[in-house]
Amino acid sequence: MSDEAMNKFIDVWVDPGLQLVDPEHRTHVKEYKKFMEERFFKWGKQNEIDGYFLNPGMEPGTVRYAYNQLKYKNGDVLVVTYPKSGTTWVTRIVQNILYRHDLKLLELAIGVSQFYSYLEFGPVSKYEVMENIKLPRRFFGTHLPEALVNSKKVMQSGGKIIYVMRNPKDRAVSWYNFVQSLPYRKHKSLEDVFPKNERKQRSFVKDGEGYLESLREWYKHKDDENFKVVVFEELRKNPITVIQNIATFLGEKLTDEELMDIVEMTSFAAMKKQAESSGTQQEGGMQIFRKGKAGAWKDHLTVAQSELVDRKVKEILGHTDIKFTYD
Ligand code: A3P
Repeated sequence: MSDEAMNKFIDVWVDPGLQLVDPEHRTHVKEYKKFMEERFFKWGKQNEIDGYFLNPGMEPGTVRYAYNQLKYKNGDVLVVTYPKSGTTWVTRIVQNILYRHDLKLLELAIGVSQFYSYLEFGPVSKYEVMENIKLPRRFFGTHLPEALVNSKKVMQSGGKIIYVMRNPKDRAVSWYNFVQSLPYRKHKSLEDVFPKNERKQRSFVKDGEGYLESLREWYKHKDDENFKVVVFEELRKNPITVIQNIATFLGEKLTDEELMDIVEMTSFAAMKKQAESSGTQQEGGMQIFRKGKAGAWKDHLTVAQSELVDRKVKEILGHTDIKFTYD
């Protein structure tokens, strides 16, 4: 990746958030930029923690800090997903719910979403920002496996966890296409991200495991009081009801007008447009908004590939009540 492309990436993804953070808590700006250059863009060997693989920019020390030292507060919200399951969408919904009364807070929250709020991303010093951030209710995000997140601490502190799940066929297609737009790696074919082969993705799982194992472990919390499962396909089909349910889970009472505003502001078209105007949806960056549909896998997967996913779902999740919606 050229220096010019790298600087452009930092300009649109990292700088806007940094600019909004209180100046006294921006002491590590240089360190963060150096970190991005060395650990995100010029990253070599994949990081590993307790046998789980991490993506570039995601650091074992930062994961440990979040597990052992980060103090969660009553009202904190943690959005958990396996990549490409609707992280950005549900995070934006949560932000719109929490900060609907104050556009400046909403702007700050969106600005820090990508590189500060992820439990595993960045240098440990970034926690200075998240620990002091002037948000009445903080939010965090993570793609980490259940074993590496102190979910007990989150929930016992009065924090809430939202787990977003998506059908594995669309998720695989989404990941494959997303990775082709990343600065640091490409998959050779769609096969690389299939259950049989997900070890090649090696994101947030142990060798040989993939999305389905990650989901299986998180899903054990489904009946916990401070834990809610949100389904991508349900959110697509019925955003009004699902967004209302998320607000209720978070203890926030929306007026009808607020609810409809949030539905509108978090629609695929509105979010894509916002990303285009902020520059994050550019070539060579991380293009998150692709199709935003359910069932798009039908244009990409062969019958044999689709059947393979079905078999894996049965094998790994057959004992649960999970029933994926594939369109
Ligand atoms: P596709 O690649 O299938 O289009 P994540 O945020 O976890 O990386 O997930 C990205 C996926 O969510 C992409 O799926 C993206 O288009 C979709 N997405 C993001 N915002 C969305 C929205 N507001 N409505 C529908 N889908 C959305």
